[in-house]
Amino acid sequence: MLILGLNMFHADASAAIVQDGEVVYAIAEERLNRVKHYAGFPALAVKACLDAVGAKITDVDHVAVGQDSDANLTKKVRYALANPAKILNFIRLRQRKEALRDLRSLLTKALEVDLKKTRFQEHHLEHHIAHIASAYYCSPWEKAAGFSYDGSGDFVSTMMARCEGNEIEVLERVFLPHSLGSFYTMICEFIGYKKYGDEGKVMGLAPYGKETYCEQISQAVNLRDGGFELNLDYFMPLGSNQGMQIQPDGTVRMARHFSDRMTKLFGPPREPHAQITQRDMDLSYAMQHRFEEVFFYLLKRLYQRVPLPELAMAGGCALNSVANGKLFAETPFRQTWIQPAAGDEGLAIGAALHTYHSVLRRPRRYQMKNSYLGPEFSDSRIEADLKKANLSYRKLEREPLLEAVAEQVAAGNVVGWFQGRMEWGPRALGNRSIVAHPGLPDMKDVLNARIKHREWFRPFAPSILVERQNEYFEYDHPSPFMLHVYKIRPEKRAQLCAVNHVDNTGRLQTVSREENPLYYDLIRAFERKTGIPIILNTSFNENEPIVCTPEEAIDCFKRTRMDVLAIGPCLVLKTEN
Ligand SMILES: [Fe+2]
Repeated sequence: MLILGLNMFHADASAAIVQDGEVVYAIAEERLNRVKHYAGFPALAVKACLDAVGAKITDVDHVAVGQDSDANLTKKVRYALANPAKILNFIRLRQRKEALRDLRSLLTKALEVDLKKTRFQEHHLEHHIAHIASAYYCSPWEKAAGFSYDGSGDFVSTMMARCEGNEIEVLERVFLPHSLGSFYTMICEFIGYKKYGDEGKVMGLAPYGKETYCEQISQAVNLRDGGFELNLDYFMPLGSNQGMQIQPDGTVRMARHFSDRMTKLFGPPREPHAQITQRDMDLSYAMQHRFEEVFFYLLKRLYQRVPLPELAMAGGCALNSVANGKLFAETPFRQTWIQPAAGDEGLAIGAALHTYHSVLRRPRRYQMKNSYLGPEFSDSRIEADLKKANLSYRKLEREPLLEAVAEQVAAGNVVGWFQGRMEWGPRALGNRSIVAHPGLPDMKDVLNARIKHREWFRPFAPSILVERQNEYFEYDHPSPFMLHVYKIRPEKRAQLCAVNHVDNTGRLQTVSREENPLYYDLIRAFERKTGIPIILNTSFNENEPIVCTPEEAIDCFKRTRMDVLAIGPCLVLKTEN
């Protein structure tokens, strides 16, 4: 049985294919069309999914979309009527949604297939149920507490659920305009980070700040009866799309979120590229602080309703790895399973698995054991692309390749590491990564100056052999998808200076041999040379979506000052080219 899952006409459009209950392939459209956070129809992703299983759209039994425009409709209408200025906007959105409802036409047009030959059934699933499904149905658990939070989806920003067997029972929803994601976005915008998805950057700025504004910022979000409310004095009225405007070219533009109250309290907003002041750092500190307080409050409330140690979580805010890293100390939950594509691309998997288990009543067997669900490329394709790019290379067996790369990294060189299937979700986890020495004092600056050009305050991440985690970090709950930030043990901080953030933390990826044998063995090889069971891992890209194909990796290698490219079995040295 084939189920195609989709997130479409929403940021991070994506497709996933579920074959007999197993997610066999999943990809965000941005990786294929190279438009970051693309929010149109994921035509290329759909084609890639179908090609991966050798099927046509006429072979697909079900198509599931992680969006249901009828969900919470009463709330939406009531909100629009109470905000006359937003009624037109609301009607436009409804019209667009009506037009998009003809999924069959959209798919058959994109795939150039006769509409009459398709036989799939359509399913539309509320946004946050799809988020929770993307975590729970991928987890190994038979029951769990389910939690989802983000900016907004189907007029909801937060959902709590009880997950058991095949069922996800919704316990609570927080409706718009109250949204923890929008709270975070509002302050990010105020301090000059205005693009969709900038929130993750600002998370790295927070530890540079002090408590100066904690009290004032905490007044922007109030705790209420197990949930929360925004103090709307701090916000512009955002409308039912919560300030997220999808442009005709599929890019996402954010409407201004902060109100004049912010300016009155804190002075003029920071312009992008202006110097970051202590005020901006203190505001980001206060933002992260309040975000965590509300998050832990919500999780404690959830635990009261679902007193289980297991927490299945997704939604864009679940990418807040700093908050995730603290939840074991701050809440009664003892285990997390967080969808690696916690943002909206993950809806494709959630909607498809929900159809399989909850709608079709099929038993649960699948577990997502790693995030390598994207495309891979043959050695011959890789070699052909290297030749086309006029690069000289050496082709090596597995062990000599690992030795050579470990040697290069140990010597302080920066290596593009392109192997196997591309990761699903926003993190590079050892298949589309740039790797480097985690213990060289200037490595962060080298990476930024030569390749990444990132904000100075953003840390780089460590990948660590899972069994060595406890030696280096103060928590041993694994973090296979790089979604937890933990304190680095004091005696190890000097050894990890390139990945040790200003607050002595690291957003680690734990690596087991089962999840990624080649990457695991690379870290082992590096450890043999340096004594450090950790490698610095950053995504393989330069201000663009993460590279997907060999050509994109080669292009990035050529235009940046990367020293080495290890692509499939081939080793390319800049010095030889
Ligand atoms: Fe979402």
